[in-house]
Amino acid sequence: ESKMSQDDLKRAVARAAFEYVESILEDSTIVGVGTGSTANFFIKELGNIRHKINGAVASSEESARRLKEINIPVFDLNSVGEVEIYVDGADESNEYLQLIKGGGAALTREKIIAAASKEFLCIADESKLVKVLGKFPLPVEVIPMARSYVGRQLVKLGGDPVYRENCVTDNGNYILDVFNLEILDPRKLENDINRIAGVVTNGLFAERTADRLFIGTGSDVKTIEA
Ligand code: A5P
Repeated sequence: ESKMSQDDLKRAVARAAFEYVESILEDSTIVGVGTGSTANFFIKELGNIRHKINGAVASSEESARRLKEINIPVFDLNSVGEVEIYVDGADESNEYLQLIKGGGAALTREKIIAAASKEFLCIADESKLVKVLGKFPLPVEVIPMARSYVGRQLVKLGGDPVYRENCVTDNGNYILDVFNLEILDPRKLENDINRIAGVVTNGLFAERTADRLFIGTGSDVKTIEA
């Protein structure tokens, strides 16, 4: 029996997400589409039903480009009503479906689409499921002029922030990756960081968790519900 590669696992969860989305489709469904290598597999699957959906909203310029490439209309979030379902990957998830996101620097738009969506379906390979969040450095999007001030405040919260080189977000801001956090109270830390002046948002999705997580294991796709 050959071992499944990480890409095989991502493809399998993307396929499962596609089947789930297909099962809840209505006439005017707008699908929220995330960012990253797992979301990219989902975009490919979504091409199969492009005539059955109204279109998509995307959490990054990169995903918008990929959607347009396969002729899926991409809307501005302001021009659509409620988003039926949002599908995206994550960098880490715990068993409560609290997430760390933002490895691809798209955290702010991801958080906005998650907030605006009825249902948030997260897809990931099993390496992303952890007991305690924080091994993956927590991305924080900051207004450029606030970078060093925010860095000093993040040190006071117990982390080691590192400026992400050569990275400007789709919103024109910078990213600080915060290392060495053991996040025992994700909701509190999410709010504490978001209260720092100059922070746009951070990559903790604890106030608004995923609703459903599809995890790709070597043998199948497991579902965890919030
Ligand atoms: C993008 O900003 C992130 O939140 C992604 O969802 C995350 O980095 C997952 O990417 P992969 O699917 O490539 O691991």
